[in-house]
Amino acid sequence: MTTTETDRPAVEPPTPDAFDVASVVQDHRVHGSVYTSPEIFQRELDTIFRTGWVYVAHESEIAESGDYLTRRIGSEPVVVVHSKDGQIRVLLNRCSHRANRLCNADAGNANSFRCPYHGWTFSNDGSLTAVPMRDGYGTEFQKVRSQLGMAEAPRVDSYGGFVFASLAPEGISLAEHLGGAAKAIDRVLDLSPTGKIELRAGWMKHLHHANWKMVVENNVDGYHALFTHASVYDAIRPAKVSHIPAKVDVVVRDIGSGHSEIDYSAEYRKLDEEFVWYGRIPRAKLPDYVAALEDRHGPEKAHDALVVGPSHTLIWPNLFLAEMNVMYVEPIAPDETVAYTTAVLVPGQDKLNQRTLRRSEGAMGPAGFLIADDGEIGMRNQAGLAAHDPEWLELSRGVETDVIDETGVVNSDKSAETPQRGFYRQWASVVGQEIRA
Ligand code: FES
Ligand SMILES: [Fe+2]
Repeated sequence: MTTTETDRPAVEPPTPDAFDVASVVQDHRVHGSVYTSPEIFQRELDTIFRTGWVYVAHESEIAESGDYLTRRIGSEPVVVVHSKDGQIRVLLNRCSHRANRLCNADAGNANSFRCPYHGWTFSNDGSLTAVPMRDGYGTEFQKVRSQLGMAEAPRVDSYGGFVFASLAPEGISLAEHLGGAAKAIDRVLDLSPTGKIELRAGWMKHLHHANWKMVVENNVDGYHALFTHASVYDAIRPAKVSHIPAKVDVVVRDIGSGHSEIDYSAEYRKLDEEFVWYGRIPRAKLPDYVAALEDRHGPEKAHDALVVGPSHTLIWPNLFLAEMNVMYVEPIAPDETVAYTTAVLVPGQDKLNQRTLRRSEGAMGPAGFLIADDGEIGMRNQAGLAAHDPEWLELSRGVETDVIDETGVVNSDKSAETPQRGFYRQWASVVGQEIRA
């Protein structure tokens, strides 16, 4: 459905200035301006967030007909809705009369959305259903009225319950976009006896005084933990595995297309111990969960899933599978980002879920250990950029030891900056493209 195709003449947008991406991203370094420049930030919104696939919601959040969420794709407010025809739609959250934001709650259930300004009403499939005092409009308006529904993201697709949308009518499919990163979603789903997860615990919302890329880059940075999170490791002993990169079989991986991860699976398989990733809880403490997982997978595969645990993977550009948490980020300004975090819940496994919630609060909650450290360090990173010398940030760690295999570019030193190099390779190819009208 489109709302703008009328007989009225189209207005040509100004031609964007050419942007020389090589002036800010070079082989193993990025220029400080990628984190601070309002022009580059706008360009990211126009390219990364207006042309590619962006994570918007999880199906479990809008399981019932009429359920909706308000989210953003880059700077554009959207309503993600389970429409009455059963389809999940991503509608632009703007009234087609005079642009008022239609839907103002974070989430809810509604058959229709009524504009608070003059009362125009839209069905939850986006179509315009009521215009108060419509006789005041002329005959020309009546001709175009049927075209005045809410605009809709032209492409919406999901994988493993994760819903992505693209504001561009054409482009690669979601499957092509995800590529090898789909396996990271599978790895989380493998931990569920039903093959499904739920993100229904509510979202913790953190305002980071840092560029959005700092927040996501940090998620796959295997170098900082020993320093930024020193207090965590002082408090929690033993750690799940050693944080000294040389002592563990933990790899970092540039999966391609901007996706990247820290992969503990080889180390965990070497230990062959279940739940190392989950506080080393003995399986006897979660007998119903383990039995249900064995019912699904058989004992061998269930054991492997419990050994290997969930993924630690960044899905370009805005989704982070943070083991038993999920995070997505919204860029607000060059130096402002909101990160939303929630716990991964396994349907029907209340005991496990209670434990996961407590762990999630401990790591990601307002008084939690990890995200508070990362938020503070991100803010200081942004503050440091106010000093303009040196102009560039170094990302060359591990460049000589990167190995290419069928899973991507892999480095067996967890502290290598391989994920960040992959991120900026993708960034350069997307941000450097011509801006779509
Ligand atoms: S702006 Fe929505 S009804 Fe006027
Ligand atoms: Fe961190």
